[in-house]
Amino acid sequence: MLGNSFGRIFRITTCGESYGIGQGSGLAVIVDGVPPGLTIPREYIQNELDKRRPGQGPLDSPRKETDQVAIFAGIGQDGVTTGAPLGLIIYNVDTQQVHIDQYHSYKDLVRPGHAEYTFFLKYGEAADWCGAGRASGRETVARVAGGAVAKFILEREGIEILGYTKEAAGIKAREMSFEEIKQNYRKNEINCPDQEAAEKMKETILKIKAEGDTAGGVVEIIAHNVPAGLGEPVFDKLSATIAHGLASIGAVKGIEFGDGFRCASMKGSEFNDHPYLENGRVRFKTNHAGGFLGGITNGEDLVVRIAVKPTPTVSVEQPSINMATMTEERLSPITRRDPTICGRIYPVAEAMMAIAILDALYLAKAYDALARLDEKWMKLKSSPAKPTS
Ligand SMILES: Cc1cc2nc3c(=O)[nH]c(=O)nc-3n(C[C@H](O)[C@H](O)[C@H](O)COP(=O)(O)O)c2cc1C
Repeated sequence: MLGNSFGRIFRITTCGESYGIGQGSGLAVIVDGVPPGLTIPREYIQNELDKRRPGQGPLDSPRKETDQVAIFAGIGQDGVTTGAPLGLIIYNVDTQQVHIDQYHSYKDLVRPGHAEYTFFLKYGEAADWCGAGRASGRETVARVAGGAVAKFILEREGIEILGYTKEAAGIKAREMSFEEIKQNYRKNEINCPDQEAAEKMKETILKIKAEGDTAGGVVEIIAHNVPAGLGEPVFDKLSATIAHGLASIGAVKGIEFGDGFRCASMKGSEFNDHPYLENGRVRFKTNHAGGFLGGITNGEDLVVRIAVKPTPTVSVEQPSINMATMTEERLSPITRRDPTICGRIYPVAEAMMAIAILDALYLAKAYDALARLDEKWMKLKSSPAKPTS
């Protein structure tokens, strides 16, 4: 299997699946590019993992994973990072035989909407039939652990990233400011800052769940206080690497920046964000572009939305193919699943955004160190916020 790394200077490499063999089965991430001398509390990483952890309520999978992280490399005797790669591992603790038997009972059947068919094409008989292997939502645990390290480093630079459910099962949250979203972050199971909409989402999703079906939605991720000037102009635009990171998460079917697809019905004069000067710094009156110009950050909040498809595993009977016998069959899986992925995907999206932004920050600092740009331009690039330490 190729392509298990993301990032260039700050880089994560992950391994692991949802049902590995034996006691030690789990998911791990190697994080490259961690500066030396940092005290990264284990609890900081754990807190990010707890956001993604299943079994927290009726809107997510009943799978009971504690997702406890252990740091197995990269911290020295003084308790600080040594500059060596950081190694993090999360063991699977809820791989029960009853569920393995359930997966085994339809191991040759492709689940509509899931990745079995394409995995058969690539790995044949050896394809992991239990819990979808690397195509499982569980694969994202290692991303969240690696992303937590990126978030920790970004926070020192005053950069905050938060994601929330903007729409689920057709119910939309009202428009809210960053501060209001932040105040109401994680106040309910689906993590929708509009409490009234969250209640309606829950009610509707539970109805859909009772029918053996699942619901989709939209998750918005905002990066606040990102300095202007991050991203490379051609193939490595920051908007492009963020899209790469987010599109690599299972169930993501669309990505928008700022007003996104709504730009199609706007006029140029309406969509353009007008610049103005605020204490000698260039700001923009609106943020239709979602914080990017030419794929490079312009100093405004980065605003990105992902369309999250309804969870593919449904109990409703659907057509399938038995890949062993090459016959058409029908399938209604009985395994555990999330009735909606929205309340679980936002920490994964935050993690991928954090990795992409930190990686771009490293590249920009490396380039700036040699570019010898005039003071005037360097000043404009820095963020208005002071680094926290
Ligand atoms: C956090 C998270 C949890 C998920 N939970 C489930 C689940 O419980 N059941 C399921 O069938 N798919 C789940 N998925 C979606 C599948 O991983 C995804 O649909 C599959 O890999 C196929 O990829 P595609 O949807 O991008 O085509 C989850 C995805 C994420 C990111």
